[in-house]
Amino acid sequence: MRYDVEKLGEFFAEHPADISLDDIDMARIPRHVSCIMDGNGRWATARGLGRGEGHKAGIVALQDVITACVRLGVDVLSAYAFSTENWNRPQTEVNLLMHLFAKTFVDELPLLKRENVRVEFLGDISVLPKKTREVFEYGLEQTSDHTGMTLALAVNYGARAELARAARLLAKEVAAGHLSPDDIDESAIADHLYTADLPDPELVIRTSGEMRLSNYLLWQVAYAEFYLTDTYWPDFDRWGLLRAIAAFQGRDRRFGGLSAR
Ligand code: IPE
Ligand code: IPE
Ligand code: MG
Repeated sequence: MRYDVEKLGEFFAEHPADISLDDIDMARIPRHVSCIMDGNGRWATARGLGRGEGHKAGIVALQDVITACVRLGVDVLSAYAFSTENWNRPQTEVNLLMHLFAKTFVDELPLLKRENVRVEFLGDISVLPKKTREVFEYGLEQTSDHTGMTLALAVNYGARAELARAARLLAKEVAAGHLSPDDIDESAIADHLYTADLPDPELVIRTSGEMRLSNYLLWQVAYAEFYLTDTYWPDFDRWGLLRAIAAFQGRDRRFGGLSAR
């Protein structure tokens, strides 16, 4: 995707000692960057704050990463915000998150409009509390004709649920006589996932030191590069993103073949 050189330079001007735009090859920016935003609770606990404060700080971090990705010309930024397993948390935390999602989304809509960002949701948002669902649906509608970066928010997302749903949809097409079982190939499955219109993530970032996928994009990350950092998500920002991209650009992506180097 195209990017504005002037805005890019300005956004990344005052850089820390270890990383700057000079470390990045702008011709090899990953098309799809995906973030497993983890560690909000621990960030808050370490500061003697309630977990809700961690989630609020996590949203500020996401805002910085969204703008950074727009400036760098990333095509798709996806972010894991709430998993199908996160319903197992105490009801008070679930309520707080749902409230925060709705509020932030309303507050951030002007930014998304200004930056020409198109929003998409991965996961079943139809079962979310009414207010949150309505705000999300409004955001979808308001940004649907935007032609800039796609922001794909995974909310009530679980990869196993997504794959089971794809199997169900395909089975219905077969039962209706619209599809032959022999036509179910990799692209037929990919076309029935929430990510049907998106390229696979090339770079997956997980914060907070955890080394697991937690039921995230199991199918889509088959050849993604992983970048793990101990930083808690609320402390992650544009510089963390640059470090991740620099690491990504240093990888030898062979896709089962032999090195092109
Ligand atoms: C990630 O932070 C945000 C969500 C899962 C909603 P956590 O809430 O998982 O924070 P930790 O892992 O408990 O520190
Ligand atoms: C993964 O984080 C889900 C999100 C970031 C939304 P969790 O905190 O829920 O993952 P686990 O429970 O540590 O695997
Ligand atoms: Mg966590």
